[in-house]
Order: sequence, then structure tokens, then C-alpha cells
Amino acid sequence: MNARSVRVDLGERSYTVHIGPGALLSVPDEIRRSLGERPTRAFVVHDAGVPQVYCDELCAALRGAGLDPTVRDITPTEHAKSMDTLTGVLRDLGASGHSRADPVVALGGGITGDLAGFAAACYQRGVPVVQCPSTLLSMVDASVGGKTGVNLLVPAPGGERLLKNMVGAFHQPLAVAADTRLLDSLDDRQRRSGMAECVKHAMIAYGVTGADLLSETRAVLPAVLAGERDATDRLIERSVALKGEVVRRDERESLGGAGGAGGMRMLLNLGHTFGHAIETIPHLTPDPAFPEMAPLLHGEAVALGMVAACRCAEAAGKCDASLGDELVGLLDTIGLPTRVAGLPEDDEIIARMGSDKKAAGGVGRLVLPVGRGRCEVTVSPDGSWIRAGLKAIRG
Ligand code: GLY
Repeated sequence: MNARSVRVDLGERSYTVHIGPGALLSVPDEIRRSLGERPTRAFVVHDAGVPQVYCDELCAALRGAGLDPTVRDITPTEHAKSMDTLTGVLRDLGASGHSRADPVVALGGGITGDLAGFAAACYQRGVPVVQCPSTLLSMVDASVGGKTGVNLLVPAPGGERLLKNMVGAFHQPLAVAADTRLLDSLDDRQRRSGMAECVKHAMIAYGVTGADLLSETRAVLPAVLAGERDATDRLIERSVALKGEVVRRDERESLGGAGGAGGMRMLLNLGHTFGHAIETIPHLTPDPAFPEMAPLLHGEAVALGMVAACRCAEAAGKCDASLGDELVGLLDTIGLPTRVAGLPEDDEIIARMGSDKKAAGGVGRLVLPVGRGRCEVTVSPDGSWIRAGLKAIRG
């Protein structure tokens, strides 16, 4: 059974993140503890990539607690994270007789969690959701903090453009079950990709809690890369605790603050404004020797985005080169890309960055490192700094 847990302290919306092998089995207890005897059903949104055995185990546990499960399989791609798929899930919820008292359970990676969480936020104006993340990336980041949503396809010159997470809602889960047995079903590339979000947390941790998560992450990496479960669970616990603290202090990513710099949660966007701008470029590959690996995974794009942000901060005189060098060293050890071949011209990427939701209109805001474990939101960054960042990641 799972050994670790982190409490996310949000007053009446507080919840526990269970971490470890067997954490899935905590789901029925969490539902009964939070919702009492009223729920009679549970609607499970199952990422078809998660081995069926875990879905069956979850459903058996739900049945054992008197919750009749309905399972909806989805194939999670950025294109399927859409209003159309959302409509399908909502229709199935309605058809299954799901009531306001009944929970949705998301079993899968970040796309599944965002989509199922948003369906739960919308259905009957909001039903409870339990997040059961299956990837490292979703365990340490996406499943915690209540962000839910789907992508939006908008008309654009010459076709359509996908705007990531453009429609959504904050909807905190009633619990998170990060069952680390599920990580065994991931391939090596996905595991490495997930570690990008752990590195992101380490890059902001000192400024949030005073913890030197950069050194801790470096120390634990060999064991995590070797697949040692306890080291992996510990890294997840540390990352979730950091994320939980950021969310506690700024639950809804406030836009205000001194000089329009926004609240603390924006720091979690480190690497994402650059990252989102390149993630959807179909021909980019993490390894030029393997073009068939295109497109980039989210964590790979974030890794490149963090390097660009670091070098951008260096050009702005906000940090010295040693920070970028330390970051590149860490990402190299993990096996994440720090350069990429075939990037479009700067102006095209800057235009994409400007329409990213995280940039808040123009490249209006950018999260930039200012020291070891410390970042800040920079308003109206200079174009020359951004170009320096892009130059640094061109392969
Ligand atoms: N993944 C960034 C956030 O939850 O705010």
C-alpha cells in the first residue's frame, strides 16, 4: 500500500495526494470520507494507454465500496483534448445516470486529467473529481492544483491553429492517487519527459520554501534513472509538496501583483511560454538522428523552454551563466534535449509565444530565473533577450 502522502491545504477544498504503489486503492475510501454514503456511481475516464489491469483493479475497489463504475476509454492526444471529446464525455455522463453526488475518476496522464476534470467542473455545474495520474508528469504537476480544460481550434491564415488549454476551469480534486506502479508501463522517453516538471519545481523551490531542491534533485537522479521506486516516490513527494505550497499561496494564478507581475502560481509557467510555442511544431524531434521521434513531448519542450528562459535571463542581466550551465547539466543527465534543430525563424516563434495563454497577451509576461532556485515574472521582456534565449537552443 502507498506510504507517502502530501496534504494540499486549501481550506474547505483541501485534499490529500497519496503517493506510492497501491495508491489507487485509496480512491473509494477518499470518496466515502469526503462524500459520505450518497454517491452510488463513479464515472471513470480511462486513458486507453493505461494497462487495463489497473482500470479493472480500480473498478473492483469502487464496486467493493458500493460505487457502480461506468468506464469511458479515451485516446489522449492534444487533438483529442477538444470540445468534441468533452461533449462526448458529458453525453456519456448524462446517459449513465450520473448524479451531482457521484464522482468522476480520471485515470491517465495530463490530457485525461485535464479533460475529465473539466467535464466534472461542467457537468451539472460541478461534480467531484478524483485524479489518478499515470505519468510522472501528471503525478508531479498536472493532477495537483485544480487546473482543468481542453484545447481550442481557432481559424488562422491557411487553416486552423490549436490553442492549448484555452478553455477550462479551476476545479480542485477531492483527492489525488499517484499510484507509482503505473509508471512501470511508461517508456523511457515518457519518464524522462516527466522529469522536466520536477526540474521546473527545483528551479523555483528556493524562492518558495527555501529548499535547495536543485541539489536534492541532482543527488537523487541516478537512483530515479535506474528506476528505484523509493527514490522516485521521494522525488514525486518533494515535487508535489512544492506544487501544493505554490497552489496554497495562489490557488487561481492571480493576474495582479506589483507591476502586473501576477501571483506566485505564474512561476510554474517557467519554460512553458517558450515550450508551448515549439511543442506543436510537428517536425521538431528531441534527437536529430531520429526524425521519427517528432513531435516533441511536453516535457521535452519545457526542458528546451527552461534553457531558453535561463539564457534569456542571462542576456537581461538577471542571472549569471552558471545557472544556465547547471540547468543544462541536469537536463543532459536526465537525457532531455537542451538544443533542437529545425526551429522556425525567431519572429514566427515570438508570434506563437505572444498568443500563448501563459504569456497573457503579447509576450507580456515571461518567467525568468534570477538565481539558484529563484524565478520572477518579468513584464514586457525585451525582444533581444528572447532572441538570445532562442539562439541558445538552436541545434
Ligand atoms: N501546471 C502549472 C499550474 O498548475 O499552474
